[in-house]
Amino acid sequence: MLTTRPRGTADILPGQVEKWQYIEEVAARVCREYGYREIRTPIFEHTELFVRGVGESTDIVEKEMYTFQDRGQRSITLRPEGTASVVRAYLENKLYAGPLPVKTYYIGPMFRYDRPQAGRYRQFHQFGIEVFGARQPAMDAEVMALAMDFYGRLGLDDLELHINSLGCPACRNVVRERLQQFFRPVLGELCPNCQGRYERNPLRILDCKSNRCTELALEAPTTADCLCPRCREHFEQVQQYMRDLDIPYVLDKRLVRGLDYYTHTAFEIMAPGIGAQSSVGGGGRYDGLVEACGGPPTPGIGFALGLERILLALEKRGKLPVVQAGPEVFLVAVGDRAYRESFSLLARLRAAGIAADMDYQGRSPKAQMKYAGKLGVRYAVIMGEEELQRGSVVLRDMAAGSQRDIPVGEVIGALK
Ligand code: HAM
Repeated sequence: MLTTRPRGTADILPGQVEKWQYIEEVAARVCREYGYREIRTPIFEHTELFVRGVGESTDIVEKEMYTFQDRGQRSITLRPEGTASVVRAYLENKLYAGPLPVKTYYIGPMFRYDRPQAGRYRQFHQFGIEVFGARQPAMDAEVMALAMDFYGRLGLDDLELHINSLGCPACRNVVRERLQQFFRPVLGELCPNCQGRYERNPLRILDCKSNRCTELALEAPTTADCLCPRCREHFEQVQQYMRDLDIPYVLDKRLVRGLDYYTHTAFEIMAPGIGAQSSVGGGGRYDGLVEACGGPPTPGIGFALGLERILLALEKRGKLPVVQAGPEVFLVAVGDRAYRESFSLLARLRAAGIAADMDYQGRSPKAQMKYAGKLGVRYAVIMGEEELQRGSVVLRDMAAGSQRDIPVGEVIGALK
């Protein structure tokens, strides 16, 4: 136990973490260019927020939450997603009092008690955005465009964007009734899970992975078939904007999302070739959520992208840049006096913004050189008794294998 991490979690080690930083930097840059500002909310919230926000009949709330009582007997849950928390923060901090829309983004860990497998973890990370106060179809297009732009900048240009419209609550009632009508004669043949969904949320039957349910749902009515004229118009405009931006998409009438808050546009992005967990991101509109959480009627829209799956897709496609993460310069000291001098020089190099390191193991000069090689530094700065006398050091270009003497005072200039 002491040396094993909990199932479904990962250590992100040096060497790996640079890849994460790279993805996070691209995300932050894209967000800045689109006018989104970062928001950081707590990792845990009152359980009630997710029950109400995400939806009682969702898999997440029914069986995937990390919920516990804290010492004050409050029910607390590790956030399984980011939207509900950002909505809570939007309300609690009265962000609606400022200019609208409010455009936010976040990057951080989420927790779901799911069955771990490749691409599915119990602690995973999302990059997400949430926008409040924009009803225009152009905003739906901007949100999807931002996601696709982000993937594109990472070099993922073979992803599939699936979009659908789930309509407004009135459309939802129509589709609900039509689905119940459709499934009534075969109710007994649905899986036990879907028999429960039949009453609570029949739309989710369309999302069931069991063979029999998939078969039975083939001819089922979809939300897109039940849209009212206004919802249809909204969705058509969204698609027009997507075409204007030249962003390819697949109209996927069977797309229903696993969270209850969606209205109108819903979308998911798939990466071929990363296994069963191919959804690298998803999102949509949630025009009723802010109100359901006790706020003023406010349209909302956003997405969340799974960073582990994006990393997997990048690795599979060989699209990760090689990042030089360690020091660029290693100081090799020969003898005690040189070691002391080198230690001071090291501080000066770092102060000048040069990533530098030296030996702390009492290694021989030869072993220090070997270690510098292992670190992959570009330069070694070698200082010995003789050099010390002359006030100079040897600057060695590790790749070229060439070296020259330079005065100590010129090291920084030479390295820069
Ligand atoms: P979601 O579809 O539940 O949506 O999750 C979004 C993405 O997070 C998935 O497409 C996947 O890439 C990643 N993901 C989810 N679960 C796991 C897991 N167990 N392991 C690894 N990756 C995972 C949401 O979370 C919504 N909050 C998105 C949203 C924001 N909608 C509107 N605003």
